Amino acid sequence: LRDKYIGLISAASDEATLEDLRVQAIGKKGEISLQMRELGRMTPEERQVAGPRLNALKSEITSALAAKKQALVDSALNERLKAEWLDVTLPARHSNHGTIHPVSQVTEEVTAIFADLGFSVAEGPQIESDWYNFDALNIPGHHPARAEMDTFYMHRDQGDNRPPHVLRTHTSPVQIRSMQEHGAPLRVICPGRVYRADYDQTHTPMFHQIEGLAIDTDISMANLKWVLEEFVKAFFNVDNVELRFRASHFPFTEPSAEVDIRCSWEGGTLKVGEGDDWLEILGSGMVHPKVLEAGGIDPAAWQGFAFGMGIDRIAMLKYGIPDLRAFFDSDLRWLRHYGFGA
Ligand code: PHE
Repeated sequence: LRDKYIGLISAASDEATLEDLRVQAIGKKGEISLQMRELGRMTPEERQVAGPRLNALKSEITSALAAKKQALVDSALNERLKAEWLDVTLPARHSNHGTIHPVSQVTEEVTAIFADLGFSVAEGPQIESDWYNFDALNIPGHHPARAEMDTFYMHRDQGDNRPPHVLRTHTSPVQIRSMQEHGAPLRVICPGRVYRADYDQTHTPMFHQIEGLAIDTDISMANLKWVLEEFVKAFFNVDNVELRFRASHFPFTEPSAEVDIRCSWEGGTLKVGEGDDWLEILGSGMVHPKVLEAGGIDPAAWQGFAFGMGIDRIAMLKYGIPDLRAFFDSDLRWLRHYGFGA
């Protein structure tokens, strides 16, 4: 009996078999349990011999079962460890992950620079009302600037005579929205997409601008000049810059100026701060009193400066990219060539 069970236990290959063997041998109706029940019918002499033997057998089988069970658990664990073994010395598997688009990168860079100068970020809708995009910015219905901006108009149902919405042609409407929302004093930077029906090497129908607006009780062109100088130094990583303010005209600023930076094009690469060339980077001016009024701000108490800059344009300059259209072709080879790809 002993040899039978010890043999079976050591041959068992899983826990269910072991449990069957336990029931068969020492369960209530097991072979050994039945024999133990026979002890009652034996003479004391016989019992003295058989009793200890059966007890010893029972405990031997109990511990054989426990030992085998432990062995099975151990080997299952070893199997698992073997299966889950990782070779950390293998070379990493290559995966293609995306990167941030150059225009988004430059937007973030510019925003961060102005954030350091105390400007917070404001955004507005890309589908804008005629009022925000034009009227509030002192561009009335007949004004030539409307035609010059190559505006995309949204369709209105026949018989609906309200002025059509437009795809905003600049980020300047966000000036009005920020004034209305926050009042004065105010310092905001407004990046975003703008739209004009135009297409060539330096124009795409969708492009990006960033608007700056600062309103306070004693703001002047001198503040504008300082802020722009700080920006250009930080953006182009140079210690010295020279800005040139050229008189210009925008309906929403008075006076208005276009701003150029001194530069050179040595062997095709842009050098900011030196040389005999001038590079136009933005339009700017003192916020027109009518614009402050449209934004709900009293022009007798407050003044401000504003500027608008093409993000794609300064990205092209900084990275030496000749064709604006390539920004929006999603050609990975192009992105990698300019160091933007994964
Ligand atoms: N909105 C003007 C443009 O798109 C730029 C600008 C903004 C000029 C703010 C002056 C002040 O050309």
